[in-house]
Amino acid sequence: MDEIQQQTGGISYAPSPPEEFCGRREELEQISATLSRAGEHGQAVMISGPPGIGKSSLLNWLAYEVQERPGGRQSPVLRAEVFDLPGMIFSAFRELLNDLRRSSASARFGSILDVESMKEAIRYADDVFEKYAAPVEPVGLLPKAGEEIVGVFARSPEVGYDRVYQAFEELLRGLGRQMSMAGHVAAVLLDDVHLASSHDRRLLRDVVHDLPPGILLAFTCRTEDGAGSGYAAMREEIRDLGIREVQLFRMQRHEIRELGERRFDFSIDDAAAGLLEESAGDPFRLITCFNALRNRGLAPSRENVADVIAGAKEPADLAFAALPEPMKAWTEELCVLNPPFPVPIMACMLDLQGADVTLMADRMQESGIFRRLPGGEYAFAHPLLQEHCRRELSTDTGVTLNARAADCFERSMHRLPGRLHVLLSLAGHLFDAREYGKAADLNLEIGLRFHHRKDHDTALMLTERAVVSAERLGDDALLAAAERQRDVIRQKTSGPPGVGR
Ligand SMILES: Nc1ncnc2c1ncn2[C@@H]1O[C@H](COP(=O)(O)OP(=O)(O)OP(=O)(O)O)[C@@H](O)[C@H]1O
Ligand SMILES: [Mg+2]
Repeated sequence: MDEIQQQTGGISYAPSPPEEFCGRREELEQISATLSRAGEHGQAVMISGPPGIGKSSLLNWLAYEVQERPGGRQSPVLRAEVFDLPGMIFSAFRELLNDLRRSSASARFGSILDVESMKEAIRYADDVFEKYAAPVEPVGLLPKAGEEIVGVFARSPEVGYDRVYQAFEELLRGLGRQMSMAGHVAAVLLDDVHLASSHDRRLLRDVVHDLPPGILLAFTCRTEDGAGSGYAAMREEIRDLGIREVQLFRMQRHEIRELGERRFDFSIDDAAAGLLEESAGDPFRLITCFNALRNRGLAPSRENVADVIAGAKEPADLAFAALPEPMKAWTEELCVLNPPFPVPIMACMLDLQGADVTLMADRMQESGIFRRLPGGEYAFAHPLLQEHCRRELSTDTGVTLNARAADCFERSMHRLPGRLHVLLSLAGHLFDAREYGKAADLNLEIGLRFHHRKDHDTALMLTERAVVSAERLGDDALLAAAERQRDVIRQKTSGPPGVGR
């Protein structure tokens, strides 16, 4: 544990704190203009751009602008993030609800939000979300003697999508009313909607369609992502609604110089800034390059910048090169997990107990490679770091680590909140660990539950895993059942747009 104390001394790869936010003047102006219109008519804005370009950092700036800036609006901000585990039904929307509950209970906003009508709307929306998601959760899906996973009959949800939409819409209407009366504008911020399921996107699109006065909804969307379709679908969905899109591009020379100066105390000459503009213009690359220069004790000259860039296959290599070995090992062992990482699961993966778990949390925070989430869980400081780590894993190591993750989830299942996250994680880890017996049962069972919720994309992905597992097992009866379920779901996914989707 002590060895981990070695510091890299770098700037964190997490989204930029607002006080260190650099450049992007035009984009800030566009967003400020949208914000100033939100008092009269509810407004929405989509912030888009490639990985590492600064979308989440811009949300941080907006949150500060709305809630904290002295002399600013000093209005409430509700914020949530979508993570890359498909099937997390409305979890980001539920997070927004929790944020609203926290604001209502705070000394700062209690006087405007802690009113009976708001409390009632929060309770109602919470209840409806709960009922919609509940039957997916593992009421009867519990590990039996650590051997076999037994399913119970998958039921249809007690409430339908319309009730969910109506409850959320009423909540925003109530919030907007309170904001208008008090002369505030509430900002609702959603990060990474390219990862959202079709269900989440549908709710977002419906909500955005008719935002009440007093609300600004800003969301970010990657223009490229592994799954490919998130941005294209989102863009199409908002196109006709007249929603503003603020696109982020690579930083320009003057912005690069500002970033070097403000965040690293580097004075960057025009030649070095020019090279960076050509070869490393997105902020994530800039941070990796500046951290590497600082770690090696090099001045930010054009030659040194050229050397650093030439010495790395990809920017994330630079971030990992500076890490002490034990921390590097942690990144490898944790990268198979789906964020948010619960602390007991991380401790189990790293085989740590007692006081070492507290030390682990401290070290992770200091490393700049991980960040602590508002709910107390952890994630990689930037998704590009986790994606890089996963790509670097050998097949055998991937299988071993997924088996360990499945085992950790099975053992801690009853103690963890977020049951849906546990179940979906377990279903993925068992499959990736090639434990096909358990993987087939669990994926088939949860697949059916998502099918009943009309989340056909998730249902299909889970059921396809069950098909592959049954093939690998050579179990003909199971294979036939899985293929039947897959075919029924496929009929829904290939139906006319909007029908049952
Ligand atoms: N305007 C900025 N000023 C200072 N630092 C920035 C700025 N924009 C981004 N950064 C830094 O660059 C890195 C990437 O930024 P950020 O996480 O905001 O990108 P992103 O577009 O949200 O990426 P992703 O698509 O992977 O979520 C972070 O380390 C962040 O601190
Ligand atoms: Mg981001």
